Amino acid sequence: MKKNLFFTLLLLPAILMQSYAQTGKANKALLRKADETLQFAARQYKLMMTHVPDTLLPRSTNKDGSLMTSNANWWTSGFYPGTTWYLYEYTKDPVLKAEALKRMELCKKNQFNTRTHDLGFMMYCPYGNALRITGDTAYKRILLNSARSLSTRFNPTVGCIKSWDHGTWKFPVIIDNMMNLELLTWASRESGDPRFEKIARTHATTTMKHHFRPDYSSYHVIDYDPATGNVLQKKTHQGLADSSAWSRGQAWGLYGYTMMYRETKDKSYLDEARHIADYILNNKHMPADLIPYWDYDAPDIPNAPRDVSAGAVAASALLELSRYTGKAEGKRYWNAAETMLTSLCSPAYLAKEGANNDFILMHSVGSLPHNSEVDVPLTYADYYFVEALLRYKQWAK
Ligand code: GLY
Repeated sequence: MKKNLFFTLLLLPAILMQSYAQTGKANKALLRKADETLQFAARQYKLMMTHVPDTLLPRSTNKDGSLMTSNANWWTSGFYPGTTWYLYEYTKDPVLKAEALKRMELCKKNQFNTRTHDLGFMMYCPYGNALRITGDTAYKRILLNSARSLSTRFNPTVGCIKSWDHGTWKFPVIIDNMMNLELLTWASRESGDPRFEKIARTHATTTMKHHFRPDYSSYHVIDYDPATGNVLQKKTHQGLADSSAWSRGQAWGLYGYTMMYRETKDKSYLDEARHIADYILNNKHMPADLIPYWDYDAPDIPNAPRDVSAGAVAASALLELSRYTGKAEGKRYWNAAETMLTSLCSPAYLAKEGANNDFILMHSVGSLPHNSEVDVPLTYADYYFVEALLRYKQWAK
């Protein structure tokens, strides 16, 4: 009896956290708004599917206002079928399922693509959701092949997966790559082969060491010497400056370390995610509606473009992070995510039906330094927004 009491006391914090995990406090108005918005999103994507050529995938809006598409080789190819799966999960509309299946076929060949680090985005978003929602085990083989292809880019001397083959870099690793690791942790669980997870953990731990500044903002690109593992350069590609905090990069890091904590229960990843969340939420340039400017150090704040994609990724991550932290801290993350979602569901960011090339959200930034995809819809903003709305509905009590 005494022993039982001892163990109960020992486990009390975990029990309390678990019970908190099931009780993110619901904002009734936002729950209603989430339903309305998900229904709108499904109608919007059913319009979009009639405009996208059969062999292509939607990507953004061109400078002339027309729909920008990509083929399946582009890093964002998996988001549209992934979002369509989420919307099918919500509506059970067979038209959405048929569309997800059709577009996913285009992505299938990427299971053998070893020239990109983006296979998590490209394959786990469509095929991971397809497996989860349909239970069709045929998708497992495709996902395992994808995990094998991604693993070929790992260099044990560096302790990272190489991001890009282009440019003058020796061994570039970008913070975005944290997002691709879930494919690997899944692959180890599924196959029983620990090597995939080992690669994911090593990559995450190396990134923690070199990508972050003392204030927990992150560099975009770290270039390593592939022969020694030494850091050669700390740079940016899509941010304002090497020393600045590119908003989407901070969001990828936040989501990546929250996900890696879920997948491994390694507390150092949880702490990293909490520090990144605090950097973002305490940033003096974070606007009141919590939708960040494209770079936290943009010189023309408050007139700088927002990056809605960074807001959507961060909202989804904060909802999850709130479930792994103590009550007061969790409430802060949960409330911040609610503010972000309330903003994203407002006319300031949510498209009008039939407008915005039928994307759900407006006002994202792909790469401002390259004058590419500035103040446009982006398919990954939609993906993480829909994911966040579904998470909110699932976790709000
Ligand atoms: N992964 C590329 C980007 O976030 O723009």
